[in-house]
Amino acid sequence: MGNFIFHGCDAAELAREFGTPLYVMSEDEAIDRIRAVKSCFDDSYERCRTHFASKSFLSRDMLGIIESEGLGLDVVSGGELYLARDEGFPPEKIAFHGNSKTDSEIRDALEYRIGKFVCDSLQEIAAIGGIARAVGARAKILIRVNPGVEGNTHRHMLTSGGRTKFGIRSSEIADAVSLCMGLENIELGGFHFHVGSQLMDNSAHLAALDVLLGLIKRLKVELGFDTEVLDMGGGFGVAYTDLDKPAPIDEFIRPMVGRVCEFCASNGIFRPDLIIEPGRFIAGPSGITLYTVCSVKEVPGVAIYAGVDGGFPDNPRPALYEAKYDAVIADKFGEPRTETVTIAGKCCESGDILIRDIALPHVERGNIIAVLCTGAYNHSMASNYNKNPVPAVVAIRGGVPRVSVRRQTYADIFACDSPKT
Ligand code: LLP
Repeated sequence: MGNFIFHGCDAAELAREFGTPLYVMSEDEAIDRIRAVKSCFDDSYERCRTHFASKSFLSRDMLGIIESEGLGLDVVSGGELYLARDEGFPPEKIAFHGNSKTDSEIRDALEYRIGKFVCDSLQEIAAIGGIARAVGARAKILIRVNPGVEGNTHRHMLTSGGRTKFGIRSSEIADAVSLCMGLENIELGGFHFHVGSQLMDNSAHLAALDVLLGLIKRLKVELGFDTEVLDMGGGFGVAYTDLDKPAPIDEFIRPMVGRVCEFCASNGIFRPDLIIEPGRFIAGPSGITLYTVCSVKEVPGVAIYAGVDGGFPDNPRPALYEAKYDAVIADKFGEPRTETVTIAGKCCESGDILIRDIALPHVERGNIIAVLCTGAYNHSMASNYNKNPVPAVVAIRGGVPRVSVRRQTYADIFACDSPKT
């Protein structure tokens, strides 16, 4: 019995000191997870690089950790690039992804001399080539391939297969390579795929690798093209609840590397540099969100609703992906879970339910609820819906908490409004 301790900090104390809703990120956990994935990859292949998918969680502090741990950085927008540039993140370690890059994003990225663009269409390759020529730069690119493989995950987290907007289909890759070969300001390094997110095992990665490796062989034979880089994406799943049983990270990675090595050896093909780009695996389990219970309402025969002071604006994932989470009452930790409760967000939106029917100790107004595993795609997807300020991020290092990103104020929310006419 007592309070929930998260990486050396009493969660109820954090709520009292920093207010709720509150994102809490353990930097120690993030660093452990970075080292776990990076060392597994480094030990299994001689020329590899781990990138962090910054869309999962980005702050100045996180960027500092990514740089000091020696990872590369994936960005997908001018905004993510802006922070990387503002913090002086090494440009050669940045990859710019996305299916719809604007001219100004392309120009900014070229000006910062980023390591590579991951190109999503033939039109984009031509556009980058044109802008690079105009500014006197040479753009290094990878082509994103849609291997046509569907991973086993929520349909909104699929990024490969017949209906996805992402990537170039295998049948068009030879044309894309020929296009690159004819563009003076484009330097094609190789290929990229990302099959989807929150995958429990690597079967989709392996199926995609078979497609990609076949393609690499064909391009060598037909066009004499040597693939120097193969980026195998992210997607390594984490356990949000006891029902999720993700494979350990080495069981994801080692067989993927093994598949590349075997194929290249048996087909006499040059072994490319390999890249992976985890986001959720690093950020997800490193974070929790703290809320204060503002109302407890029993609707007989339906549910006990515990309304909290956050919800959809700080975590849209249950509404968008039917995502499931686990939670504890931080100030009643270890007490028997005697009630079935639905944790409701505060938005005027019926879908704003954080967790349906979770077993918890008796819940009362004023209790602090900790929703677990919220470090990825929560802060980064936060909105101001119903004009709720984005919560602060408190980072914990060595058991010591500090404000890493301050809470938005009401004034921040309206700071961009022109004075009324
Ligand atoms: N690389 C590429 C090209 C990606 O598109 C993504 C995620 C990643 C890497 C990182 O995937 P991860 O290792 O984090 O699974 N908002 C959704 C997730 C969308 C992910 C999109 N792409 C969510 O909240 O679950």
